[in-house]
Amino acid sequence: MTDADPDHPHPNLPPSRGRGSEGDPHPNPSPSNRGAERKSGRFSAHPAPSPLAGEGGGGGAPRVVVCAAPEHLGAARAVATSLRLPLAARPDEGELALVLDERGWMLLDPRTPREGGAGSVRCDLLEGGLGARLAHGASGEGRLARALGLKRHPGPRVLDATAGLGRDTVVAAALGCEVIACERSPVVALLLRDGLTRAVADPALAPLIARIRVEVADAREFLEALPEAERPDVVLLDPMFPERRKTARAKGEMQLLQMLLGAPPVGEDTALLEAALAHARRRVVVKRPAHALAIGGARQPDLEVPGRAARYDVYVIAG
Ligand SMILES: C[S@@+](CC[C@H](N)C(=O)[O-])C[C@H]1O[C@@H](n2cnc3c(N)ncnc32)[C@H](O)[C@@H]1O
Repeated sequence: MTDADPDHPHPNLPPSRGRGSEGDPHPNPSPSNRGAERKSGRFSAHPAPSPLAGEGGGGGAPRVVVCAAPEHLGAARAVATSLRLPLAARPDEGELALVLDERGWMLLDPRTPREGGAGSVRCDLLEGGLGARLAHGASGEGRLARALGLKRHPGPRVLDATAGLGRDTVVAAALGCEVIACERSPVVALLLRDGLTRAVADPALAPLIARIRVEVADAREFLEALPEAERPDVVLLDPMFPERRKTARAKGEMQLLQMLLGAPPVGEDTALLEAALAHARRRVVVKRPAHALAIGGARQPDLEVPGRAARYDVYVIAG
């Protein structure tokens, strides 16, 4: 990943639309907001709306950036400025927050489970044995290798059009693919970059992380803007699908992401598949829950790679 620089962990975030005193950690609050700041511990207030316009489709977009690691105040301030969110020392009750602590970034719902809180989500690519598996050449990831058609065409250029927290992205990169990880939510992209930045510090993972580039964009627009010479060999899709992951932790993570992103508009999966089919050179691979129907539309998959929890539907464009 060319942009995973530990000193500038989030270089691809949308650029700041002007600073003024917005990112200043020690502002001189106006008399009218002094009380509120004292109560919330906020360093600053952003009068202008956040560029997170597309976020919160499920009722929750982060309302504040919290710096819980004073040594990283500069990074927290940069993100607060670019997302046009206030910067605070701690989350407000009940307000979804983007928190930077010594482990990196997380999206936090500060409510307790009894209040309906969904906990927190961060991108940890090293947890659950994934890091070790990746370091050993993604062994056991044969199904994705088959779906991507790597036997006949190793090392393809893959666009992971729905990158999310990057698990498929890193597995594809571990399988030798050059991957563009496209994620339209600036918040999810921030978490993803953060996870990649920490993973790149592991010498066993650094070479595969170097094959990943993150783009914060809507994949359809991104594909349509690509010059002919840069069209991907394979487009990988993993659209949101409710209730797929069943563990308690994953449930909380899923719930929080659904609060952030909301349900996709009807027909969006089909539109994304059609854009992928129009721009991929060799194939489109769609990850589906094992028993879900294929994405509707004009075309049915040419082959399926089944699995216990998920299946890959493969649409072949050129052998
Ligand atoms: C189910 S998650 C993907 C999980 C991912 N495969 C992983 O391994 O972590 C779907 C993600 O796709 C993103 N997404 C949905 N439609 C998109 C689009 N048109 N362009 C870019 N990202 C999109 C959502 O914001 C969400 O983060």
